[in-house]
Amino acid sequence: MGRMIAPQPPATPAPSRTVRKAVVPAAGLGTRFLPATKATPKEMLPVVDKPAIQYVVEEAAAAGLDDVLMVTGRHKRAIEDHFDHAFELEQALAAKGDTARLDAVRDPARLADIHHVRQGDPLGLGHAVLCARNHVGNQPFAVLLGDDLIDPRETLLSRMLEVRDRHAGSVVALMEVDPAQSHLYGCAAVEATGEDDVVRVTGLVEKPAPGTAPSRYAVIGRYVLEPAVFDVLERTPPGRGGEIQLTDALQRLAAGGTVHGVVFSGLRYDTGDKADYLRTVVRLACARPDLGPGFTHWLREFVAGLPAATAGPEDHHRAA
Ligand code: G1P
Repeated sequence: MGRMIAPQPPATPAPSRTVRKAVVPAAGLGTRFLPATKATPKEMLPVVDKPAIQYVVEEAAAAGLDDVLMVTGRHKRAIEDHFDHAFELEQALAAKGDTARLDAVRDPARLADIHHVRQGDPLGLGHAVLCARNHVGNQPFAVLLGDDLIDPRETLLSRMLEVRDRHAGSVVALMEVDPAQSHLYGCAAVEATGEDDVVRVTGLVEKPAPGTAPSRYAVIGRYVLEPAVFDVLERTPPGRGGEIQLTDALQRLAAGGTVHGVVFSGLRYDTGDKADYLRTVVRLACARPDLGPGFTHWLREFVAGLPAATAGPEDHHRAA
């Protein structure tokens, strides 16, 4: 009789040996959410009961990145305060013995060692990344864009770090999108590597004109970058929209054969888009153990009571 083999727990990727720092560009004007973003950064808009940017920092921390640099713009204060201690609030909650809320207030500051740098002029994503140069130094680092929320149940960033540990160079997250949506993204030309979810990126183009994307693979807002990207960014002229584009710098690195892509097919939400933002809140609320059961019950009744409608244009936009 053969030996019994105990069931194995799902493999969790080993923490990256070389990447410790994450950069989170958070200097956008948030014009798509005006007037909510007139005096509040878009990154601070609540998704259920946490600001969107907290999910991003939690994702970095979950992947073992314990140093996070925020590249902020004119609304630096609210983001800084959120990831700092709130002495009076903490004292008031402690005096009431409200430990659950006290933890909720303390958690953001405990997630990682959080730093801030200001991007003086909003010259584009590539420029925001360049603002991180002094802090990052000569080490590979991750970049997480705040508009892209990856469901907390996914392990995309860990997978990217693991691919970077094996291949060196840079790694971008890719997702297959409807070609009608390609013009909203950086798009990649790719070659197979023999690993199902890993491709070699041979070219990149920022927001290609309709019908010209090199493939269905779009870059979503997660990157693991080699420090060589800084020198390339220094020399990258303004591109699409007159901005210094990270995609253009990565195109240079891809031409040198040092960029890989991890193909992601899990749950990703675009909180920079109004309709997707609403879908994100609904989905994450349904998944919450405290809110989910009651909210889902209400949602079913609400949807059942809606008049039948034909699909509107929003239904085709960046599915969440
Ligand atoms: C940025 C990048 C783009 C990428 C996208 C992912 O664009 O420039 O290459 O595909 O994020 O969300 P943005 O959406 O900020 O215009």
